[in-house]
Order: sequence, then C-alpha cells, then structure tokens
Amino acid sequence: MTRIFSGVKPTGHLTLGNYLGAVRQWAETDQYRADALFCVVDLHALTVEHDPARVRRLSRQAATLLLAAGLDPARCTVFVQSHVDEHARLSYLLECTATVGELRRMIQYKEKGTQAQAAGQSVRLSLLTYPVLMAADILAYGTDEVPVGDDQAQHVELTRDLAVRFNQRYGHTFVVPKATHPKVAARVMDLQEPTAKMGKSHETTAGIVYLLDEPDVVRKKVMRAVTDSGREVEYDRAAKPGVANLLDVLAACTGGEPEGLAAGCTSYGALKKDAAEAVVELMRPLRARHAELCADPGYLDGVLRDGAARARAMARPVVDAAYRAIGLLPAG
Ligand code: TYM
Repeated sequence: MTRIFSGVKPTGHLTLGNYLGAVRQWAETDQYRADALFCVVDLHALTVEHDPARVRRLSRQAATLLLAAGLDPARCTVFVQSHVDEHARLSYLLECTATVGELRRMIQYKEKGTQAQAAGQSVRLSLLTYPVLMAADILAYGTDEVPVGDDQAQHVELTRDLAVRFNQRYGHTFVVPKATHPKVAARVMDLQEPTAKMGKSHETTAGIVYLLDEPDVVRKKVMRAVTDSGREVEYDRAAKPGVANLLDVLAACTGGEPEGLAAGCTSYGALKKDAAEAVVELMRPLRARHAELCADPGYLDGVLRDGAARARAMARPVVDAAYRAIGLLPAG
C-alpha cells in the first residue's frame, strides 16, 4: 500500500492556504487511498524566535484543526513530531549526508534568514538544517508520496537527493518519495500582497484568512483583497495576480475551473463576494467541529498518544536500518 506522510508546522494559526494547499487533500482523499501519517511538526517551530507557551498552544490547536478538517484517527495516524524520537535520530545521519552548499540554496532559508536579520535577530543554525529534519520526517516512514503545497517542492526534491545519495553510499535503505500538489490552489497568495504566499507566520494579517476567523472577518478580508485598476475578470496570474488568486480560491472552494469561473463573473466586486461566501461556507463545518473537539481535550490527548505509538513502531525499524547501514555499532 502507498505510504503517505505530510505535516504542518505550529508557527502560527492555520490558514486557508494550509487548508487548500494540503490539509483538505489529506482529509478528502489521501487518508482513504493510502497508509497515511499526518504530523504536527513542532520541532520545526523552534527554528525561528519562539515563545514556548505559544508553540504548545499552537501545536494543540493545529492537531485539533486536523481532526476538525476530517482526519479520522481510525483511518490515518495523527501525531506530534517531538513524541517520536526517530525524527531527530535520523536527522543527524542525514546531516552527515547533506552539504552546507545545498542547504544554503533553499529558498525558504534565504527568505527567513533575511527576515530574521532585518529584524535584528540572529539566525538559528536549525533554520539552515531544517530541510534535513524534514527529510528525516519523510524518510523515516518509507514514504512514497508527500502531499504539500508548491512552496515545499524544493524541500521534497532535497529529500529525494538525500535518499538517493544515502542509498548509493550505504546500500538501499530509503524509499525515494515524490511530492504531490493539488490541481488548484497549490499556492494561495496573500490577499493584500498577491505576489507573496499566504503564510501563517507573517506579521501583517489583513491578507491572511485563518481557519478560525469569524465569518465576518473572512468576508471583510476577502472584500478588501488587493486587485488592480482593470475591470475585466480574467485568469492571468502574471498580469492580474490578485484576481487570479481570488479565482483560484473560488475554484478550490466550489470545485470549478478558474478560467471558467472568470467568464461567469461580471465585476471584481462580484468575484470577491462569491469568493468570500465560498470560503465562509467551506469553513463552516470545520469551525463547528473544532468547537466540539475543544470541549473534550482528553479525546485529543488519546488520539496523539495512540498516533505516536503507531508512528514509533513504523519509524523505528527504518531508522535502525539506517544506523546499521551508515556504520554504527548495534547496541546489542
Ligand atoms: P507549513 O506548516 O508551512 O505548511 C503546511 C502545508 O500547507 C501548505 N501551504 C500552502 N499551500 C498553498 N498555499 C499556501 N499559501 C500555503 N501555505 C502553506 C504547505 O505547502 C504545506 O504542505 N516544512 C513544512 C512542514 C513539514 C513537512 C514535513 C511537510 C515538516 N516536515 C514533512 C511534509 C513532510 C512546512 O513548513 O509547512
């Protein structure tokens, strides 16, 4: 059976981008067609300046939202990365496989490193090595497919390179995974800055729709989305990035095609109204389920405990095999 692994980092509240680019596919298709693991990758939240209490809070919130989005613990494994030691164990072996040069080329390292420096903060070493930990997350489970938004494609490419290199040097140990992306909305853009990705850890929030935003807040954010000075509703990502983004969102929410939907919209205002209502409707059941789950925190604890136990049992033999292959003496 196909093995799927993917994750979400608790550095902020989950966004519409996270949902349309990744989580929705996990819930609607991936958990039914494969042996799937979905992880709140909390170790990754420590790569930038962080508040421990906030990371704890956001980790629980992210896990709750994954369940609210429809992940069913009877069908897939939902867990928290730091509960399974194998990720960190394998990460070190992959640090001994990767090079500084290839990590410095990672786009997200360049972007976040520059942001941190501009804010007068020092850049944590883990920000550079982060894609290696992500590779460990994936390779520890013999993963075939990694369903992610577009922005993670480069990290999954690196993961493939590391798997191939390790296998060539030390003998076949890892499955070489591939990334999969949704057909529409693989990169939802910021509503106020439609040439930049909608990211959960951005400082200005007017262009970001959070999954837990109240319906009226969602409407306001979408109605104020930046477009351009034109009037024609056309799907042209280069010339009309704001309009194209709204069409992508509308298409993802309603199941249509962005080009076809453009033809049916008479004005930018009408497009915004349709997109706003479509997002509100899509999020309504998720918000309701989230509220129910919050009323029963013990349920989440149980899901995460069972998930970690299952994940550990899957990762342990793979990581042990990698330890042996690379030349470490078995513990006896
Ligand atoms: P993260 O937490 O930034 O995002 C989680 C998932 O949401 C997708 N995504 C988007 N998709 C479309 N439009 C957007 N604006 C948007 N923003 C985010 C991301 O592509 C991702 O699929 N490095 C990862 C977490 C990670 C991981 C892994 C993923 C760690 N280990 C192993 C897969 C496998 C990250 O920062 O995702």
